[in-house]
Amino acid sequence: MAILMKGKDLSEKLLENIKKEVANLTVKPTIAVIIVGNNPASKVYISKKKKTAENIGMDSIIIEMPEGTIQQELETKIEELNNDKAVNGILVQLPLPKQINEYKILEKILPEKDVDGFHALNVGKLSQGIEPSAVSCTPAGIIEILKEYNIDIEGKHAVIVGRSNIVGKPVSYLLLNRHATVTICHSRTKDLESITKQADILIAAVGKAKFIKEKHIKDNAVVIDVGINRNDQGKLVGDVDFNEVEPKVSHITPVPGGVGPMTIAMLMTNTLRLYKNQREEIK
Ligand code: GUN
Repeated sequence: MAILMKGKDLSEKLLENIKKEVANLTVKPTIAVIIVGNNPASKVYISKKKKTAENIGMDSIIIEMPEGTIQQELETKIEELNNDKAVNGILVQLPLPKQINEYKILEKILPEKDVDGFHALNVGKLSQGIEPSAVSCTPAGIIEILKEYNIDIEGKHAVIVGRSNIVGKPVSYLLLNRHATVTICHSRTKDLESITKQADILIAAVGKAKFIKEKHIKDNAVVIDVGINRNDQGKLVGDVDFNEVEPKVSHITPVPGGVGPMTIAMLMTNTLRLYKNQREEIK
């Protein structure tokens, strides 16, 4: 039977440590979160971020902007937050409505307040092996999970299914920086199965429920399931067909309770790091 890599337990441990650290600070770390429009999933994520920040004694500012917001309005709001000394981290929830140029928005956030690590400068640093204070939260959480369960990365073949800017690409850099051999697959990949079957570490970030089956897996692989999909009954299911895959692997993350909770824990970790960097500059 596979070892379940319980991101939820690890996230609680990390958040407890952050909470203790924050309790000793006179000025609280503050994260500002901007949400544009009414994407229901985004709204759920935002309320989780706010609740978690509250639980650990951080301040959060939630800025809700209407679906019809234009580029300039959003950029002006970001500039305001860039200039606000009380704000340590800025997050713009993605996806954005289609009239808004996402790249330009992410470029507007001061790199030192870029709590998601999405600014081109921070992504560029990561790609060159210089890891910035804030790295994209889900990939950072995946690395923490591998560390917690003593999974060696060096020399292993890591196969990532999904090439998004939020997960697939940044996790590929993190793994490469830790000396894995990395393959990124995506929707146009031919004979996916022949590639995923080589994976010592398989990361599924496809966005399709139960997409990864037993036939995709090498015996004793380590499987990380980034998927958060809802099935017909409204239940959360991953990108991996857990029941098929679990008997074959050495380690696997459950959904829910695997990668998801780590994303928020890493967001709080990043906020605290940016806060510390900014306080260091004041001294
Ligand atoms: N949408 C889905 N995941 C993320 C994330 O990690 N950060 C932001 N800003 N938006 C997202």
